[in-house]
Amino acid sequence: MSGDVMSEAARIDGKAFAEKLRGRVAEVAKGFEAKAGRKAGLAVVLVGDDPASHIYVRNKGKQTVECGMNSFEHLLPESTPEADLLALVEQLNTDPAVDGILVQLPLPDHMDEQKVIAAINPDKDVDGFHVINSGRLAVGLPGFVPCTPLGCLMMLKDQLGSLSGLDAVVIGRSNIVGKPMAALLLAESCTVTIAHSRTKDLPEVVRRADIVVAAVGRAQMVKGDWIKPGATVIDVGINRLPPTEEKPKGRIVGDVDYAEASKVAGAITPVPGGVGPMTIAVLLRNTVVAAHRNEGLSLDENAI
Ligand code: GUN
Repeated sequence: MSGDVMSEAARIDGKAFAEKLRGRVAEVAKGFEAKAGRKAGLAVVLVGDDPASHIYVRNKGKQTVECGMNSFEHLLPESTPEADLLALVEQLNTDPAVDGILVQLPLPDHMDEQKVIAAINPDKDVDGFHVINSGRLAVGLPGFVPCTPLGCLMMLKDQLGSLSGLDAVVIGRSNIVGKPMAALLLAESCTVTIAHSRTKDLPEVVRRADIVVAAVGRAQMVKGDWIKPGATVIDVGINRLPPTEEKPKGRIVGDVDYAEASKVAGAITPVPGGVGPMTIAVLLRNTVVAAHRNEGLSLDENAI
């Protein structure tokens, strides 16, 4: 920024970043295959017919194979008893060809998600959802970190270098994004605030932040005048606006009002094309890391 003239924020290109990450994963997967005599493998389990989940799972399978790893897809009917799903998870836990296991959420109502996640071997839990992995993250032990917040952290470090001493505000306290994001930022020596629906004077809290991570699921909630000039803004939200004549399906927007915030921020992720594309790329990264750990092979995990 120069003088009184605000310059447009740098646009953090998650699509390009994800492509580079997949390139590194593919190289590491090739090295793994040469050393282990087999490909790394990811098992994805999908229960039911949710169309969005089917699209995610198809994309995951395609990208897994493109990176030189095996994809094992298990598509189960909506009516599957919980005991059958638990039996499948147990079988995958002991299958030496499977390095990572992902059970697509949400599960049907008759299943207990926490029980199913708890059944996954923590060392194959590439989603990082098992409480053992949450605990490892909380105390700074190596484990698996949920893909979305880890992708956000990678983009932040790429943009800013060291995050030490920066004020970070995470908006949202979910187990999948908000809480692990806060733990990762704390581990990078940020001063971390977790804001949520009960936070008093949220705009004022966000205005203090050098780093804002928005993960609340409310379209365009974070306004331009909430952002400290020059701050780095990571928008995890994916929300569909009501249909208009121009966009009959409804436009996809984030939790941040991009048009406003990009006039104030130093750098910002767009929606779509920011955090979204990173999630699967990080899943593949976690899988190739799991493969090395499971075979006792050394790997510089920070270099991927
Ligand atoms: N549903 C939507 N995103 C995800 C994800 O990253 N992991 C799992 N297990 N389910 C999801």
